Amino acid sequence: MLQSSDADILKTEASRLRNASIASLLSSEANRVSDLTLSAAGLSLDASKQRIDHAALSRLTQAADNAGLPAAFEQLVTGVEVNITEQRAALHTLLRGTAADDCEDLHNEVRETLARMKSAVEGIHGGDHTSASGQPFTDVINIGIGGSDLGPRMICRALDSDTPKLRTHFVSNVDPHDLDVVTRGLNPATTLLVVCSKTFTTEETLTNAQRARAWLINGGVPEASIGKHVLAVTTNLDAAADFGIDANGCFPMWDWVGGRYSVWSAIGLVIALGYGWETFSELLDGARALDAHTREATPDQNLPMMMAMFELWNTRFLNTETHVVLPYSQRLEYLADFLQQLTMESNGKRVTLDGEPIEDVTAPVLWGSAGTIGQHSYYQLLHQGNRAFSADIIFPLTNGAVDLDAHRKLASNALAQSRAFLIGRSAEESKALAASKGLAPELAPHFEMPGNHPHSSIVMDAVTPATLGALVAAYEHKTYFLSVLMGLNAFDQWGVELGKVIGKQIRGALETGEGLDELDASTATLAAAWREANDER
Ligand code: F6P
Repeated sequence: MLQSSDADILKTEASRLRNASIASLLSSEANRVSDLTLSAAGLSLDASKQRIDHAALSRLTQAADNAGLPAAFEQLVTGVEVNITEQRAALHTLLRGTAADDCEDLHNEVRETLARMKSAVEGIHGGDHTSASGQPFTDVINIGIGGSDLGPRMICRALDSDTPKLRTHFVSNVDPHDLDVVTRGLNPATTLLVVCSKTFTTEETLTNAQRARAWLINGGVPEASIGKHVLAVTTNLDAAADFGIDANGCFPMWDWVGGRYSVWSAIGLVIALGYGWETFSELLDGARALDAHTREATPDQNLPMMMAMFELWNTRFLNTETHVVLPYSQRLEYLADFLQQLTMESNGKRVTLDGEPIEDVTAPVLWGSAGTIGQHSYYQLLHQGNRAFSADIIFPLTNGAVDLDAHRKLASNALAQSRAFLIGRSAEESKALAASKGLAPELAPHFEMPGNHPHSSIVMDAVTPATLGALVAAYEHKTYFLSVLMGLNAFDQWGVELGKVIGKQIRGALETGEGLDELDASTATLAAAWREANDER
């Protein structure tokens, strides 16, 4: 946890720097860009546009050390029970082979599962495992929600190619429209389902799995051969068997892997089915390389540790209100959605590990979308609204030589926005602009932009399986380090569980009309309106 003496020091540093000009720091501090650029596993983090100077930075890295971040990382990767309310380790790093010697038995299970996944994937790609009608599979639908959806969905979008091994699709929402839209253009005879649910109790996933199964059967797949079309990933092998999924088609998950950290497990099966086993292995390799960096690098050179320190600095000390993730790559279109769960489900907490209330803010509100689309929408608020924010601008330097001109335009937008966040537009410039438009000087404030918004740029040579693995691992570790600094448990999600419990209660009331009077007046009235609209009177 951040030591209170360090918090006091950082508070003093922050009040010194609250109104400091990042642009002035950039021009006055020698070597600022190289000093504030960290590289690891194919990623480069340029933090020179954070609102911090050399003196405060060394306080920040000292605070990271004093907070025990390196030791906390060792606890994580060696399987200490960091998730205290569920009494579990959080060993997602073991899924990619990190610290395997420390958890040999568990790693054997991981290796066995990876071998089974590889053989299943190669069997499907090689034609040993065909559909019930003996045809090769053409499409795979991943059915899952939260961590059983967002990671694989984001990675598959990022790896998108003209020639996937299987076309990948994702169904998550219990709204039947989600499944119906996905299945609309598909042939049941050549479609494979992967039902992903760590618990195998999640209402959305089980409902979608039932409907998708019915779609296969109605589309001509004989019920007796349905096992050929349905795979499952879960910790709850009995529930999957009860659901009718063949033991051979069932891949294990473990309670020591959190849903939002599970893309490296069999939850990533759809990635391998879509883009090949090699690709999935490279994803794991990229993440493992980032793990190795995180274990070895000192705090001042440690990329995810510094990402966490900047987030703490911005949210707690410079009082930024939100954190916006802006990938300038359509391939990273779903990155912000993925990071929302990772960041806010992990660190959206209000008590310390000891159960004491946390007075300071915890996880930042994280949002964002692929540039340049957001530029024509919410960037107005970023430039001229009055909310303080921090940002990550992420872009690959190359895109596989596809249309260099368009790629150059994309990069210029990324760089332009980073520069605009830095310099804004001054009062003087705004007056000149108003005059050039023949407008009265009183209108000049409408053109002003404060700039000086703290942000980092994260660059990689290209979006590849390995750089994606490293990027996701970097954000995973940043999230964990932040939880350590704030002294909270990043690995439970009791807030989400409450919705599930009340959801069950209300579903019963909608079905039978009973128990409506136990609800508050507003919810009861809305529920009654729903019953009336659906003729359930
Ligand atoms: O949304 C809450 C949650 O518990 C997430 O943590 C999890 O990723 C998701 O539900 C799905 O859970 P499961 O994989 O068990 O279906």
